[in-house]
Amino acid sequence: MAILITGGAGYIGSHTCIELLNAGYEIVVVDNYINSKPESLKRVSEITGRDIKVYNVDLLNKKSLEKVFIENTIDAVIHFAGLKAVGESVQTPLLYYEQNIIGTLKLCNLMKKHHVKNLVFSSSATVYGTPEYIPISEDSELRAMNPYGRTKRMIEEMLADLYGSDPSWSIALLRYFNPIGAHESGLIGEAPNGIPNNLMPYITQVAIGKLKELNVYGNGYPTIDGTGIRDYIHVVDLAKGHLKALENVIGKTGVEPYNLGTGKGYSVLEVIAAFGKASSVTIPFKIVSPRPGDIAVCYADPTKAKQELGWTAEKGLEEMCADSWRWQSNNPNGYEQKILLHNENP
Ligand code: NAD
Ligand code: WQD
Repeated sequence: MAILITGGAGYIGSHTCIELLNAGYEIVVVDNYINSKPESLKRVSEITGRDIKVYNVDLLNKKSLEKVFIENTIDAVIHFAGLKAVGESVQTPLLYYEQNIIGTLKLCNLMKKHHVKNLVFSSSATVYGTPEYIPISEDSELRAMNPYGRTKRMIEEMLADLYGSDPSWSIALLRYFNPIGAHESGLIGEAPNGIPNNLMPYITQVAIGKLKELNVYGNGYPTIDGTGIRDYIHVVDLAKGHLKALENVIGKTGVEPYNLGTGKGYSVLEVIAAFGKASSVTIPFKIVSPRPGDIAVCYADPTKAKQELGWTAEKGLEEMCADSWRWQSNNPNGYEQKILLHNENP
């Protein structure tokens, strides 16, 4: 019996592979490396001392994906694979609908065909859009405000309909808040392509000198210091949440959403200060106009995940910052090997 992990080479997927391997699960990973590198999984093997069966397969390629189901006995699927950049989804909505929705559709069709009915799905707090109330609980209205968020909401609805048609399915919809941090080894972490969109990778790239200064998007929000507040969650805590969700999904039926967040919000300026403390690097920043589409405050009510999955986030902001910094400073170019110039020492 094995757990199929789609998108397992990515940021959250690679950390989840570690938790599953350490808990004794057999895993099979499918990834087309559109936003990751095979190196991340080599490092997962190095950290865990376990070999990983990996397929370089695009979810949209049904024939290649079916081979994975034929060659392995899959017990459950954790489905991370998809595209995740909000701005890009506004520019290229059809790409997002195709990759996220059709990808999930093809995966679910094969799961159905091969009688695999346990699924843990990567959703996002972005499905809530501008929240109805704070902290956000799972029964809050879903008001996704961009194509990326709408793909997540539509997939959630599709999965609820699937369960409605066949109550032998068991599906967890995990709504992540803002994952940051990295594995404590400093060997794996977030490695965005190009200029980062998100706060923490931007900060770490300023800290390492790749970017000049951080643009803080607005200080006129109704918050303690005027900057946006988010629920930052350590990626290792998030990965452990997947393990708990997997254990919960196997052996019962239903479709349930769960918030995976800490329940505590921090402002942009608080994150900058915490990072400075953890890394001893001062982050130069300037206040610029708010980013279109941003909301003022977003943090989770994580009570349901605690009660039903037995999961609570344990790591605080300082540890998140210290681990992000260790990863970035040990791997200035992410998973790309540094190309040495003739007069440089390794
Ligand atoms: P990531 O881009 O690092 O990982 C996604 C992985 O899926 C990558 O390795 C990519 O190569 C792979 N992939 C994408 N399309 C594929 C396809 N068609 N076939 C096969 N593989 C494919 O992203 P992440 O941060 O690890 O996010 C994982 C999931 O969690 C995504 O679904 C994302 O939408 C969701 N999520 C992420 C965040 C976040 O802030 N990181 C927050 C909420 C939800
Ligand atoms: C956090 C705070 C910014 C960058 C996004 C997606 C969401 C989810 C997680 C996938 C905000 C401020 C940021 C910068 C800044 N992803 N900021 N300068 O926007 O909460 O959520 O990632 O599902 O869907 O929307 O995260 O890290 O971009 O921003 O001031 O250069 O940092 O305004 O207040 P966000 P973020």
